[in-house]
Order: sequence, then C-alpha cells, then structure tokens
Amino acid sequence: MSSTVITNIASLVTNDPSLGDTTPLGLIQDAALVVDGDRVVWIGESSKAPATDNRVDAGGRAVIPGFVDSHSHLVFAGDRTEEFNARMSGRGYSAGGIRTTVAATRAATDVELEAGLVRYLAEALRQGTTTMETKSGYGLTVEDEARALRIAAAHTDEVTYLGAHVVSPEHADDPAAYVALVTGEMLDACTPYARWIDVFCEKGAFDGDQARAILTAGRDRGLHPRIHANQLSYGPGVQLAVELDAASADHCTHLTDADVDALANSRTVATLLPGAEFSTRAQWPDARRLLDAGATVALSTDCNPGSSFTSSVPFCIALAVRDMGMTPDEAVWSATAGGARALRRTDVGRLTPGAYADLAVLDAPSHVHLAYRPGVPLVSEVWRRGVRVH
Ligand code: NIG
Ligand code: FE
Repeated sequence: MSSTVITNIASLVTNDPSLGDTTPLGLIQDAALVVDGDRVVWIGESSKAPATDNRVDAGGRAVIPGFVDSHSHLVFAGDRTEEFNARMSGRGYSAGGIRTTVAATRAATDVELEAGLVRYLAEALRQGTTTMETKSGYGLTVEDEARALRIAAAHTDEVTYLGAHVVSPEHADDPAAYVALVTGEMLDACTPYARWIDVFCEKGAFDGDQARAILTAGRDRGLHPRIHANQLSYGPGVQLAVELDAASADHCTHLTDADVDALANSRTVATLLPGAEFSTRAQWPDARRLLDAGATVALSTDCNPGSSFTSSVPFCIALAVRDMGMTPDEAVWSATAGGARALRRTDVGRLTPGAYADLAVLDAPSHVHLAYRPGVPLVSEVWRRGVRVH
C-alpha cells in the first residue's frame, strides 16, 4: 500500500478535540493529513508531516470529514412534481403521498430501481457525502420490500428495513394484518439485507403501540431500531425511541419539553432533516432547543421524491444555520460526526488516525463557508476509503 500526504490545508476539521483546538470540531490550521490504504494514519501541522510516497497540495483549501447522511429513501421510481407544485400553491403535506411512489416503485424493474439509486448516491458523493444510509418503504409487499433492500445492500452498508412506512393499499381496511405481515413474513425476507429497522410513527401511518411491536420484532431478529418520529405532529415516537435505545429519532419537529429531556438523557440522536421542512413548507425543527438541553443532533437530507428531494448536505447545513439556530460549527459537526453517531459508527465522520480516509476538500478557506456561501458548489474534491473519487 502506498501512503499519501495532503499538505497545505488551510483549516482541517477532525472532529477530535484532542487533536485540534479543543472545540468539538478539533480544528487544525495549516494542517496536513496522511492516508495509507483506506485509512487516515497521521494528522497534524503541515510543517511536521512525515515523509510519504505521494504528495498532494490542497492549495490552502479547507478539508472536512466526508458527510455522513444517516437518513434517505433512495430506492424508488416515479416523480411527485405535481404534488410539490400543489404544496407550493398552498396544499398541505400528508403521509398519504407515499402511496403514489409505492405504485411507481412496484411497477419498476430491478434495473430501473438500481439505476436510480446509483444516480442519487453519485449525486450525493459529488456533494461530499461518503456514507449514506438508505431505506426500503416504497414496496410494502414481501417481495418488493426485500427487493429494495437487496438492491440497496449492493451499494451501501447502512440499509434500513422500513416496511412500516405506511399501511399497504391492500391492507387499508386491516392495519393489524399489515403489522402482522411486517413483523412476520416480510421481516423474515428482509432481515438478511438490513442492519436497521425503522417505522413511520405518525397519524396516518403507525401509532405508538404498532411502532413498538414492529421495532421490538426487528430487534428480536438482530436489527437495530431507528424511527421517524414527531415529524408532522406531537406523538409518542421520540419517547419510544428512547425507551428502545434507538440509535436515532428522526425529524423531531414537534417536541414537548419531556421529549427534549428524554433525548438529552439518552444515547438516541435527534436527527434533523430540514430538507423536509423546506419542501413541505413546514415549521423548522428547533435545533437550538435540543443542543441547549444537551441532546446530540445529526443533520441529514431525508432524500426522497415526496417530502425532500435533495441529496445535498451543504444545503441542509445552510438551512440549519439560517433557520434552526445552529452555528456553522455545530451544523458541520452534526452533518459529519452527528451522522456517524446516528449510525453508531466510529470509523467515519471524523478524521483521526484509524478512521476511514473519507473527506471533502472545499473551495474555501474554512468549513464556515458551507453556510456563508449557500447554494455554491464548494466541494471540489472527495476522497472515499483513501481514493480520490471526485
Ligand atoms: O421522511 N415521513 C415519512 N417518510 C418520508 C416521506 C416519504 C414520502 O413522502 O414519500 C420522510 O419525510
Ligand atoms: Fe424519511
């Protein structure tokens, strides 16, 4: 294996306070980083960099860990432009729109679904995302859910079974039978391809008791829980996430003080998805309230054709800073280290010796520009597993 040093980094985000300026971002100015194989092996000041086989000059640009997007729905077909247009003319968003994508996804071939997934993963990679979770949830039959997960598992390690996205159209009159399917035959077919189990706990989808039954059935089969919680209304999702030690409660838009307290006193990460509030013209989640209470916050895209059709973490960072009370430092931490926490990973989301060499080089002197220069394609280079991929 050959080693490469990246020198002349104006400002390096490590997310390791012990390596840098003691803030959570562990910033190092005028830094260098050594990659050997797929890992980071050395971090420090440029002047102290060890000899290596190859040398790359970052040209005074900033380097950050690759984004860890811990929440997306990328195995789908079809388009919901009309629904988006209607919302932007004043119509509201509801869980029911999911069924439009279910019909299109069922009708698609494996090749079509895989081509879409590959396209969105590549789109995200170009924007700095080096780890991406993705879910099923637009099949809602045993075969269609298993196929979505099989396709996803061929392209990412972070795969989530979301058979409980909404009750399938075939079971509209008998939700209990659908929950039995999701926790029975469908779970059997999906377990081999997934690491996580998720449920949309919301009015119009699944209530707290159904969600508990679904997540515990998955947990009994070795899947780890995560949950769509408190997106459209107050509800039991966040408390359930904490009760089950879910890795993450996602959305967290409508929280009581008790919900915030529960998150702050748990290992469950609050994953905020501002693309969804942007695209449904909804109230922003209050990141400041969660951070001030001591909760761990992750930022992700929720990329899906209905509520948030963006694969851009930089866009989400800009929204979180402008409208959700986060500082640029907090937002960049949440989109990297926070996403890693939400996936219970320690090998991504940070640039420290031993971690994967997953990083983004920004056409800017510091990570703050991700919020300061919204909408500008600042990600000029992406390295994944030690290889320059963009
Ligand atoms: O995370 N909330 C549930 N699921 C997705 C939306 C899916 C859709 O509208 O197609 C979400 O926002
Ligand atoms: Fe989602």
